[in-house]
Order: sequence, then C-alpha cells, then structure tokens
Amino acid sequence: MNVDLSKASMNVGQQYEAILTTINNEGKTNAAPFGVRIIEEDKVMLKIFEGGNTIKNIKDNGEFIVNITNDPIMFSYATTTSIPDEYLSRINYDDHEFAHISNADAYFICKVYSIKEGMRKDNIKDSEANVIKADVLELKINSPCVRPMNRGIHALMESLVNYSRINIVDKDTQDFFYRKI
Ligand SMILES: Cc1cc2nc3c(=O)[nH]c(=O)nc-3n(C[C@H](O)[C@H](O)[C@H](O)COP(=O)(O)O)c2cc1C
Repeated sequence: MNVDLSKASMNVGQQYEAILTTINNEGKTNAAPFGVRIIEEDKVMLKIFEGGNTIKNIKDNGEFIVNITNDPIMFSYATTTSIPDEYLSRINYDDHEFAHISNADAYFICKVYSIKEGMRKDNIKDSEANVIKADVLELKINSPCVRPMNRGIHALMESLVNYSRINIVDKDTQDFFYRKI
C-alpha cells in the first residue's frame, strides 16, 4: 500500500463531501461535489447518479481527482456550474493529464477498478446510479491541517442550534425546527 488517506484525516468507513474534477474528451475540466466513502486506506467508493458530466467523463476515461476543500465558493461554483479555469491547475501523472483545484487542502488521483450500474433509492426517488470503486494512486497534501468536509456534522450543528432555540420561538417555528431536526 503506497497511499494512506488517513494522512489527510480521511478514515476507513467514513464518508466525506469532496469535489471531483474530471477532464472530458475535448480537454475541458468539469468539477462537481460528491460524497466519497473511504473503503480502504487507498480505495474509495462513490455512488453517482446517471446523466451528469462527471459520470460521463469517468466512464470515458476511468479516472478522476478528489479535491478536499472547505471553501464554500468552490462548492457553490461546482454545484451550480463548474469551477472557472482560473481556480484550476493541471498535472501529469503516468502520462495522463489530470485537473485539480489549485488551492485544495489536499487532492488525490483515482483510477477506477469497478463500476456497477443499478437503481439507487433515496428519499427523493428511484434513479439509475453507478457504484464506482477506485484505487488511490497518489495523495498530495497542501495544508498541514487538512479536514475533509463531513455533511453529517454540519447537519448536526444546525439541528443543535435549532434545538437550543426551541423554547424561544412561536409554535409554527417550533414545528418547522422539529421537522428539520
Ligand atoms: C455536497 C454535495 C454532495 C453531493 N453528493 C452526490 C453524490 O454522492 N452522488 C451524486 O450522484 N450526486 C451528488 N451530488 C449532486 C451532484 O453534485 C450534482 O448532480 C451535480 O450537478 C453533478 O454535476 P456534473 O453533471 O457536472 O457531474 C452532491 C451535491 C452536493 C452539493
């Protein structure tokens, strides 16, 4: 094992929110946020719905970069359109060109070893989804205190704030807070 994701505070069995950067067949970079589950110190799993740019690029090329950042602007760009080129850099690994977020706290290069297509049921609807497993070939850490984003912790903080205000709001707001909690 050459790579150990725990060096970037990413532990086996945990899921983190990250931004995937891929390059399409015309050479254009795409960036979008996804949940990344750590299945071994050097292996990750993603569940990606069918129909987007990232899954197309991954199916075409079998590779991607996972960027670790807490920058809300990067997550906003990546969710609404893509990240503008001025925030991105290119690197060469094993004669392949990859793109990453220039100021990411860390990023790692992934090569897909398995894609399984199927239906994924969540609280919105049943959709075609792909379960992707990939080896991590190289990890680059840029920040001494890299902390990957964990959506559950943000949701918990929001719930605790709502809970702490439950006795000072009106009934409608209480019901709204309880539904959110
Ligand atoms: C924080 C966050 C996490 C997300 N995680 C996933 C995920 O795990 N799987 C998925 O299919 N979409 C996920 N999405 C939605 C995709 O990012 C979204 O569909 C995006 O538009 C795909 O972009 P693309 O077409 O450029 O690939 C997530 C979105 C956000 C904001």
